[in-house]
Amino acid sequence: MMKYTVIRGTGRYLPPRVVTNDDMTRWMDTSDEWIRQRTGIEQRHWVPAEGGVGSSDLGLAASQIALEEAGWKPEDIDLIIFATLSPDIFFPGPGCLMQHKLGLDATPALDIRQQCTGFLYGLTTADAYIRSNLANRILLVGAEVHSTGLDISTRGRDVAVIFGDGAGAVCVEGIESDEPVGVLASALHANGRYAESLSVELGASRNNPRISKEAIEEGRHYPKMDGKTIFKLAVQKLPEVVGEALAKAELAVEDIDLFIPHQANLRINQFFQQAMKLPEDKVFHNIQRYGNTTAASIPIALDEALEMGVIGSGSTVMFLGLGAGLTWGAVITKLVSE
Ligand code: ACO
Repeated sequence: MMKYTVIRGTGRYLPPRVVTNDDMTRWMDTSDEWIRQRTGIEQRHWVPAEGGVGSSDLGLAASQIALEEAGWKPEDIDLIIFATLSPDIFFPGPGCLMQHKLGLDATPALDIRQQCTGFLYGLTTADAYIRSNLANRILLVGAEVHSTGLDISTRGRDVAVIFGDGAGAVCVEGIESDEPVGVLASALHANGRYAESLSVELGASRNNPRISKEAIEEGRHYPKMDGKTIFKLAVQKLPEVVGEALAKAELAVEDIDLFIPHQANLRINQFFQQAMKLPEDKVFHNIQRYGNTTAASIPIALDEALEMGVIGSGSTVMFLGLGAGLTWGAVITKLVSE
């Protein structure tokens, strides 16, 4: 018998405000055609423009659904792992904020900020905690509020049209099993050389003061992205890391029932599908409706794929992604019945 980390419940939450590509044309020089052609995105969900909703709020809503599906009460959780690049406030992180909103007062909460691979790093961390008996029931959340941090003028159009708000959550649990189930393999990487290719500078501890009027006028509190560099790296590194994870699990491409990539750009995921010679229905897409929700995109997609019946108990699923850091990775998991 060996210890394995299995997924018990999933949940997602998208704020109700839908922003279409045509809505974008009211704020910046862009078009529905440009956005669809380059990214596949048709609409995204954003929190209310007046503010007041943070990543911990979206994460809480997704977590409540995942907990209910798992049949857990908040008190059953041994550890919360919260992945985001858009914390409610600079510190403390949303893990602590959400823990309090769940009505807990001593459960440990760990925040990680690996951007688009936050869920992959989070799931791998959860698996390590579980297999070393440090925790047995973990709530893992990916949540982002991008919309309040985007430059929605023409200056920021290359980035602003891509990002959406949302949250996904999974309950993971350690079980003893004779057969391999749950997390089967993980491959994670980072290369800080490309940190500037996608980053938000402010508020920066290396600046004194961290935020100045001039810096804000220059728009240094907005994300900056070298989209072409990220695109090329994604197309190159995703097939590589998928091969690495398959080798670790001693599985072949054909053993994977569904690939759930981070939803950064429909074109990147189509390139990936073609490079791996996969049938179209083996790669899950929902970026058309949600945009890039970064740490939330994989758990949102997992929850949807389960709900649609594309996958279920016994399916072997590969999560993969690449994003800011630069970070990239892949995790293979075999789903079990509840
Ligand atoms: N609407 C209309 N025109 C636009 C827009 C827009 N929203 N944005 C940029 N353009 C213009 C540019 O100004 C440029 O015009 P020019 O030729 O006159 O200079 C032209 O369109 C081409 O711009 P590029 O930036 O070169 O467009 P590209 O083909 O590279 O597509 C995109 C941009 C969609 C962002 C692409 O590079 C991409 O998806 N990159 C990867 C993004 C990614 O994966 N990020 C990582 C995940 S996110 C994370 O980790 C948080």
